[in-house]
Amino acid sequence: MQLGYHPFTHILRWLLFKTRLGRLLGGKAFRENKRFRAFCSQALRERREAEELAQKSKAAPSKDFFHYLLNCRDPATGLGYAKGELESESVLLVVAGSDAASAALAGSFFYLIRNKEALKKLTSEIRSTFSSADDIRYSNSGLGALPYLRACIDETLRMTPPTPGHLPREVLADGLIVEDSFFPRGTIVGVSAYALHHNEQYFPDPFKFYPERWLVDSDSGVTPESVAAAQSAFCPFSVGTRGCIGKQMAYMELSLALAKVLWLYDIRAKPGDKTGEGSLEKQSTGRHNDEFHLTDVFVAKTEGPVIELRVR
Ligand code: HEM
Repeated sequence: MQLGYHPFTHILRWLLFKTRLGRLLGGKAFRENKRFRAFCSQALRERREAEELAQKSKAAPSKDFFHYLLNCRDPATGLGYAKGELESESVLLVVAGSDAASAALAGSFFYLIRNKEALKKLTSEIRSTFSSADDIRYSNSGLGALPYLRACIDETLRMTPPTPGHLPREVLADGLIVEDSFFPRGTIVGVSAYALHHNEQYFPDPFKFYPERWLVDSDSGVTPESVAAAQSAFCPFSVGTRGCIGKQMAYMELSLALAKVLWLYDIRAKPGDKTGEGSLEKQSTGRHNDEFHLTDVFVAKTEGPVIELRVR
């Protein structure tokens, strides 16, 4: 879905980027943004050269996102993506692929160091599955199938979804009925993942970090129905055609990072670390100290936690 820009937006963009106005008004942020875009363009140039080299030497190409973006063609025109479009994709992938995953990793450590039982169970699952840190790979090592690891990751993404706010969607021509309410064409609608993930109807005791809620177990009263209900409301990667294309890669990164760290090290919170005591939002919000706080700037801004690692 394309959200149409007001003509004024185009004029403003032209003024900011094609004249000196951006530098004058934006200062450091503007310069940093330009530096970041130059970094993305350079990475794209290098990736394109590597692809061309692989094609010339008939070597097997690296089949990453850019292999497909560089080689796809419009079936009607036979044209590939223009340079500017590829540059935008490269900016998007760096931003989308780094901030959310790093917020999720920071969140995982935050919850694990505060929930000793979960940390113990996860550490034991990892150390009893692999005989060395080098054995921990994503493909064919069984890492992707470790139930408690996946439950800890999902519980972190539930408690602290890195894209917590509503993702705006515009209602199309026929309007939209949600339950008993009608939304006419052009209305911007959305659902906040954070709000949905804390709805008691799907997640009993929603502010508690409880990885077990994702694992059917008659002893702890977690039924197939309660897991199915939780899964039906779980949407950290959004859903549908605009859902995250990096979802599998995110699970891979998070699983690898957590498993390697916990195999190699014993971890604990750095004594005196105040993360979780409202350092971003301050206690005035009345929010839970046991919750990893994010600032929603479309991607997430985080602080901490500071952890200590000791080779085991
Ligand atoms: C825990 C990690 C991640 C989370 C929670 C996450 C979440 C999301 C969400 C909610 C969206 C939808 C945004 C919208 O509808 O406006 C999205 C889109 C996207 N994500 Fe992720 N993401 C993660 C990791 C990644 C990674 C690792 C990559 C790639 C390397 C990636 C690439 C993208 C891209 C390119 C889009 C835009 C898709 C489109 O609209 O065509 N994400 N992500």
